[in-house]
Amino acid sequence: MPNDSVPSSEEKSRGSAANRAAPSGRYQLPSLSDRGALIRLAVIGLLVFMVVTSFAYVAGWLSPGLLTPARFADGFEQVNGIHEGFRRNHAKGVCISGSFQSNGQATRLSRAAVFKTGTVPVIGRFSLAGGNPYVADGPLAVRGLGLSFRPARGQEWRTAMINLPVFPVGTPQAFYDQLFAMRPDPTTGQPDPAKLKAFLAANPDVVAARAIIGAHRFSSGFADSTFNGLNAFRFVNDAGDSTFVRWSMVPVDVFQPQDPSQPSNKDPNYLFDAFIERLHQGPLRWHLIVTVAQGGDPTDNASVPWPPDRQRLDAGTLTIDHIEAETRGGCRDINFDPLALPSGISPSDDPLLSARSAVYSQSFTRRAGEKHSPGMVKVPGPGTGG
Ligand code: HEM
Repeated sequence: MPNDSVPSSEEKSRGSAANRAAPSGRYQLPSLSDRGALIRLAVIGLLVFMVVTSFAYVAGWLSPGLLTPARFADGFEQVNGIHEGFRRNHAKGVCISGSFQSNGQATRLSRAAVFKTGTVPVIGRFSLAGGNPYVADGPLAVRGLGLSFRPARGQEWRTAMINLPVFPVGTPQAFYDQLFAMRPDPTTGQPDPAKLKAFLAANPDVVAARAIIGAHRFSSGFADSTFNGLNAFRFVNDAGDSTFVRWSMVPVDVFQPQDPSQPSNKDPNYLFDAFIERLHQGPLRWHLIVTVAQGGDPTDNASVPWPPDRQRLDAGTLTIDHIEAETRGGCRDINFDPLALPSGISPSDDPLLSARSAVYSQSFTRRAGEKHSPGMVKVPGPGTGG
């Protein structure tokens, strides 16, 4: 006999579904007095809350003091202005290309394809630090070299180096604070001495790094400049052994000391123009020198040098034989992310690395979506090569 007093669960669900279908056939929302519906609404509300909170967290809205990649990029824009289509740092530059001839020496430390004996095409970019693409070249400008090594068989390796002997700061926060401490005062054109003093007092390790940079003998231009990777990385060889290293590009061109009195207004592009002229005489070469750490050498602080007696290995020769303006050359749309690494090169524990990677990506995303204008350096003809 059917039980007509206690409905089965199947009947209940059929019943509640029937409640939602009005006699007219139109759909009706469940009554809010229905406990199940209230729970479902609460769960949906919770999910929406969690999604919104996650977005707010990632955007940094929940932690106004947190240094997010977006806030970092905003900092560059506040200090340098927004120059659409240009990098937020190292904005002034030219594209270069050539090749890297590996002598196979580094294969005992790293299994990266780029180190196997042979020649690998390279595309790169010379630049000046700072977010103003129209800045005049000057003796104090930090010079940069970004490189992308592209082995035919094997993964790409990207690196971005500068001509300083150590990085001025050891942490992303100190880099950000320095940006504002060094910001030129609109009235004097110089950093506010009080702000700089407060920054240095709060960052004594920066004082030590600045002393090393101050005592360094800088070269006259791009062609005779050593470019240092500064951050430590880990080489991993075929056997799986790890070695901490730093690398530099050391020029074959003879070192000419920089003239500190060089008038920066003589030719606003004199560093780039001298490089173009030098390239007319023939290709330029650099040795890729790998410095091997010993136990206790800091791998997490690019502002601290390693002792000068460390083993140095010559991994091969970089040849640059072609230059193009950014609009024509293929480097404008490359992000020289220091964490674009092949198998055989791994990051160290240096906190600058992940910060660089994230901020470069932020800078790239912004500039890629903007209108592009020609850069300030004019390269005559369809490129120059020897
Ligand atoms: C927290 C530390 C750093 C920050 C926030 C930072 C930020 C940036 C940004 C935003 C760019 C432009 C990226 C693009 O749009 O493609 C850039 C480019 C560059 N940076 Fe850094 N940087 C840092 C540390 C360093 C260090 C340690 C070095 C050198 C060892 C370096 C060398 C360069 C060079 C050479 C470029 C130009 C690369 C190119 O031509 O595209 N940076 N940096």
